Amino acid sequence: MATNRTFTMIKPDAVSNGHIGAILNDITSAGFKIIALKYTQLTEENAGAFYAVHKERPFYGDLVTFMSSGPIIAAILEKDNAVEDFRKLIGATNPAEAAKGTIRKKYAESIEANAVHGSDSDENAEIEGSFFFSQIERF
Ligand code: TYD
Repeated sequence: MATNRTFTMIKPDAVSNGHIGAILNDITSAGFKIIALKYTQLTEENAGAFYAVHKERPFYGDLVTFMSSGPIIAAILEKDNAVEDFRKLIGATNPAEAAKGTIRKKYAESIEANAVHGSDSDENAEIEGSFFFSQIERF
């Protein structure tokens, strides 16, 4: 994936709270183009693999349970400087610390149920996008 792409999920809290439409609108209004989009649910095994980098962290077990607790939206997004600009749009991991107007400030419930995921590097954007989408599902 080129450096102008990132990967996102709308997490189970934001899906069950009815925020899919508002979040996708915030994303496209900020200039991101949707390259791939999917409504799906992670198994515990999928969620564990996706967050394997956090395996030794104390929150890992709860995070895996939460991320597999209900449906999510997965998407690949395109924009200049996508990874960095998307991290700015979603705000800090903990919504209590997220800047006003950010997606996490507006829609997240807690540091765990924080509404959205955004890749933290170009390399991870490619890995995460490939985790969810085959070549014929991205444009
Ligand atoms: P992290 O990669 O640190 O944050 P970000 O999603 O902003 O890149 O953590 C991954 C996810 O793990 C985070 O979105 C929510 C969860 N998490 C917790 O549940 N508790 C915590 O204390 C932290 C740091 C993260």
